[in-house]
Amino acid sequence: MNSNPVYLALDLPRLDAAEALARKVAGHIGGIKLGLEFFCAHGHHGVHELHKLGLPIFLDLKLHDIPNTVAGAMQAIHVLEPSIVTIHAAGGRAMMEDAKAAAGENCKVVAVTVLTSLDGGDLNAIGVNAEPHEQALRLADLAHSAGLDGIVCSGHEVGAVHQQWKDGFFVVPGLRPDDGRNGDQKRIMTPRAARDAGASVLVIGRPISRAEDPLAAAIAIEATL
Ligand code: C5P
Repeated sequence: MNSNPVYLALDLPRLDAAEALARKVAGHIGGIKLGLEFFCAHGHHGVHELHKLGLPIFLDLKLHDIPNTVAGAMQAIHVLEPSIVTIHAAGGRAMMEDAKAAAGENCKVVAVTVLTSLDGGDLNAIGVNAEPHEQALRLADLAHSAGLDGIVCSGHEVGAVHQQWKDGFFVVPGLRPDDGRNGDQKRIMTPRAARDAGASVLVIGRPISRAEDPLAAAIAIEATL
């Protein structure tokens, strides 16, 4: 892994557009994050195409199934040599242990705890009697004890989680550079602040992909780190 912690989230529907964007900013990012949408649309072929840029690939597949199936999926993506893969901590200890055991030697397996799209009411509706923050910490502990490399968490949580899990590998999305355009009504977390709080990987999508000049945006973010 190179020293730039920024993984560019390529959430673009077209493979050619995703490739062109990645090529443009390749010298100023540390890796590429490909999500479920990209993987369902373009599969192994799409990942192979992006591998040609020579950057580490993060497969954000958020796997969640019985242990045997998740282990099989991990084995099936070996050939893609991902540097990071996500699975759901809610799949349970055995699923996480088997996923880690099936992963390649150089692949970090990282758990998603509670999706930020779920609030306390949503958790209640699926029988979880806890607030999202409490549930996220519980699942982070479970992921740690199951031998995973780390978790996905927000920039506002990473400091606290880092205190509990000193050598954890923490993937932080939801970041916005402080370019003066965010207004003061929104509590933003900058890439630099997340890095300082203990993030190992900074996932950044739209601040680069939707910028008027993506290269300039990537360079500006890199300069803050
Ligand atoms: O918002 P942005 O475009 O920078 O998001 C980058 C990536 O981070 C997206 O792929 C999105 O799915 C992911 N993300 C996430 N959890 C959040 C916010 C964003 O996994 N709370």
